[in-house]
Amino acid sequence: MRVTIILALLLPAVLCGDHLSGYEEEHSHDLSLVKFGQLCSGNPTNRKRGCDEHGWGCGHYGARRNHGTHKGLDIVCNDGDTVYAPFDVKLNGPAAPYRKPTALQKLINDGVNLSGEGLCFKLFYVKPDKYKGFLKKGQRIGILHPMQKVYPGITSHTHVQMCDRSDPTKYF
Ligand SMILES: *[C@@H]1O[C@H](CO)[C@@H](O)[C@H](O)[C@H]1NC(C)=O
Repeated sequence: MRVTIILALLLPAVLCGDHLSGYEEEHSHDLSLVKFGQLCSGNPTNRKRGCDEHGWGCGHYGARRNHGTHKGLDIVCNDGDTVYAPFDVKLNGPAAPYRKPTALQKLINDGVNLSGEGLCFKLFYVKPDKYKGFLKKGQRIGILHPMQKVYPGITSHTHVQMCDRSDPTKYF
């Protein structure tokens, strides 16, 4: 009888302890340690876009835009560069930057929604080879669309935007 009572008292504690340690393990896959691998063939260090002349604005998260602020981070990329998977990713479908693109903007109104390393994010201005499936780190996603045709003189780039619109800068 005493044994039963002791077990009955201990069991919930043990279960609870297991549950907690499992929870902590998931949290110790610390997202702050996730770093993007190389995105563009012409930019091995994922150099960030600074501020452009010609009124094209700046590439950092929160930069001023005509309507509100920049909800992503721009990584320098030449027109036609190969764009690589920054880590093992799943392709979740198309993701386009403009809701009502001008005729010119239609040339670059493309991109892809990706997930991997516990992150969900979108890459804009990219022409992916496919919109669904899986890629390993370093495999080709596609190429960068011709930004210079649309915004002459801009620093061509891919726009990295987290699906929850949070700041991606800490992952670079
Ligand atoms: C991206 O894809 C994920 C997974 O399918 C989905 O949950 C999410 O809503 C998409 N995000 C955006 C902003 O399109």
